[in-house]
Amino acid sequence: MSNLSQVEQIVQDIYEKYRDVTKGEVATYIPELGKANPDHFGICLATVDGHVFTAGNAEEEFTIQSICKPFAFQMALEQHGREETLKHVGVEPSGDAFNAIELEPYTMRPYNAMVNAGAIAVSSLIKQESEEGGVCSFIAKMQRAAGRSLRIDPAVCASEAATGNRNRAIAYLMLNHGIIDGQVDHTLHQYFSQCSLLVTARDLAMMAATLANMGINPVTRDRVFDFRYVRDTLTVMFTCGLYDHAGEWAYHVGLPAKSGVGGGIIAVVNRQLGIAVYSPRLDAKGNSVRGILASRDLASHLGLHAFEFTNVGSSFMQWLGEGELATR
Ligand code: DON
Repeated sequence: MSNLSQVEQIVQDIYEKYRDVTKGEVATYIPELGKANPDHFGICLATVDGHVFTAGNAEEEFTIQSICKPFAFQMALEQHGREETLKHVGVEPSGDAFNAIELEPYTMRPYNAMVNAGAIAVSSLIKQESEEGGVCSFIAKMQRAAGRSLRIDPAVCASEAATGNRNRAIAYLMLNHGIIDGQVDHTLHQYFSQCSLLVTARDLAMMAATLANMGINPVTRDRVFDFRYVRDTLTVMFTCGLYDHAGEWAYHVGLPAKSGVGGGIIAVVNRQLGIAVYSPRLDAKGNSVRGILASRDLASHLGLHAFEFTNVGSSFMQWLGEGELATR
């Protein structure tokens, strides 16, 4: 069996293994999200040399939700540089829930760009003069990372805005401390729109692979992200991407990652590949149950943990080209 078909088989086996898991609940705090089909389950793995492996509902659209946050952070860094961006958002894990109403003591910055407070601060930085200008430039960037044309789900966006009072409270708290400017509704429109972008697991895997590939889309070869800041984005994903599950994730999976309440999870294997799993049933912390299970297995079977020594040495891609895989 070639190494490529071995990977195909591993992805398919993990899909079969967890297909019937029904633990967790679809998010309903944004009513429109409650309409997701709880049984949908898709896995996609995209390598930096353009191979794509899928299983299940990898072409099913759902909203990106919090997985927009690392990409928006990357855009803020590209537009404003490190020094200015870090005046508005920290890089410290909060260990708290994604929607916690809290800021760093002394600096009064949000802890990091992966929690809602930080993502709202970032939205304030990347919004443009017109409301649609900033949203369009976010969509344009994400399209280049996915390698196809994308759109926002207007019903989810309206539902976010209608039920978004906690985010409004966070935004006003940050206005009070001078972290964001006075255009609060404009900033929230940017944030809600970003969360409402429709993507598939395949899109997310390609976006993750673009980060893995130093900012270059592995298929279109488009230089999407400025590689000088990809390191920043991956670092914050590694320490903060799964909120109050970030330590467990780092221990078991060992990869920079981000989850969203739409049911998506992405993980990045630096210089090698992007992983995405979609399954809308969430655990109590708002992370996809089957997303976590499948990611753990992929990391373990393919030796992807950042500190893994056993299976394929330091390079999955090298093995894919030539070596032997000793799966666990
Ligand atoms: O701010 C919110 O409530 C959502 N639009 C995004 C939250 C989210 O995806 C949290 N992630 N697990």
